[in-house]
Amino acid sequence: MTSETVASHYNAVKQEGIEERKNSKIFHLRNINNWMKNCLINEAIDLLKRDRIYQPKVLDLACGKGGDLPKWSIARVGSVVLTDIAEVSVEQARGRYEESKAERRCNFPAQFITLDSCNNELAPLIDPAFLPIDIVSCQFAFHYSFVNEPSARQMLRNAVASLRPGGLFIGTLPDAERIVWAARSAADNDNKWENRVCSVHYDGSTPIDDPPLFGAQFDFNLDEQVNCPEFLAYFPLLVKLAEEEGMELLWEKRFPQAAEEYLKNERWRSNLYRKLKEFNHRTTQLETEEEGQFDHVKDLLTSEEGGRLTTLSKAEWEVFSMYITFCFRKKE
Ligand SMILES: C[S@@+](CC[C@H](N)C(=O)[O-])C[C@H]1O[C@@H](n2cnc3c(N)ncnc32)[C@H](O)[C@@H]1O
Repeated sequence: MTSETVASHYNAVKQEGIEERKNSKIFHLRNINNWMKNCLINEAIDLLKRDRIYQPKVLDLACGKGGDLPKWSIARVGSVVLTDIAEVSVEQARGRYEESKAERRCNFPAQFITLDSCNNELAPLIDPAFLPIDIVSCQFAFHYSFVNEPSARQMLRNAVASLRPGGLFIGTLPDAERIVWAARSAADNDNKWENRVCSVHYDGSTPIDDPPLFGAQFDFNLDEQVNCPEFLAYFPLLVKLAEEEGMELLWEKRFPQAAEEYLKNERWRSNLYRKLKEFNHRTTQLETEEEGQFDHVKDLLTSEEGGRLTTLSKAEWEVFSMYITFCFRKKE
């Protein structure tokens, strides 16, 4: 698989309207994933504040269509460099930025760069006014570079080369161990694990019993959308490569563990509850849902204490549990 395959896949993904998004079976999963990114970004920004960095300079690596621009704006960052391999996505990100700027919803300078970060140096293309970088954010994307070792090393160099000492590299990734577990548990279905919103298929060209460190390919299809091949990023290997680039690991957490911690914060809790599926009509709504998907709240809803509840379907939770978040710091 080449970088062009990834670029043409993402270039062809059309931008959905609000109504289309709301009707998707993974609407709430997308919301909680966005919430996770928001919490992670703010956690990193709070860490930097302890070092008296109040308006951090950001690198949004593999930025996609710029979905995180509002998060950067709310976090009051100093500037953002946005880069991605897919030029259509970068142009959409630029359009979003110009629109928000015109409406005074975002007030930081931004630079947009179309680049294959697995095969090129990013640092020379960054405007010196946007340097040094305080936070690099690579969301749901770093694993593409695990197609082979030179790509992973190049992407990592691009992530950290422009970071100042003490700067942070944060991100989210499919959890390689969970993916392998899912594929192995579906051995009698050609290593294709599936539920009603997602399927994970481990490609048979490398052994599932002993996946290679690079090039272990899988397909992750969400809500029946066509996807492009992805690669397992075995986290201990990423830690080793990052250490070679002068980075130390601050944390790695599975999504459920990270969510549990973020939910202890009142602000994040109410922010999430506004975004999830709400059952405030007691059992009526449950009866219309697919069999078993909301059993975990059924007793609560029908009990005396049962009031307004928000939650994910069982299938969405299974997918949510397949990701990890991480944070590295550049050694002084
Ligand atoms: C799942 S999307 C995530 C986009 C965005 N970070 C977000 O959270 O919404 C993965 C992104 O990685 C980008 N990507 C994959 N390989 C890349 C590469 N070699 N260089 C730069 N971007 C790449 C894709 O174009 C795509 O926009």
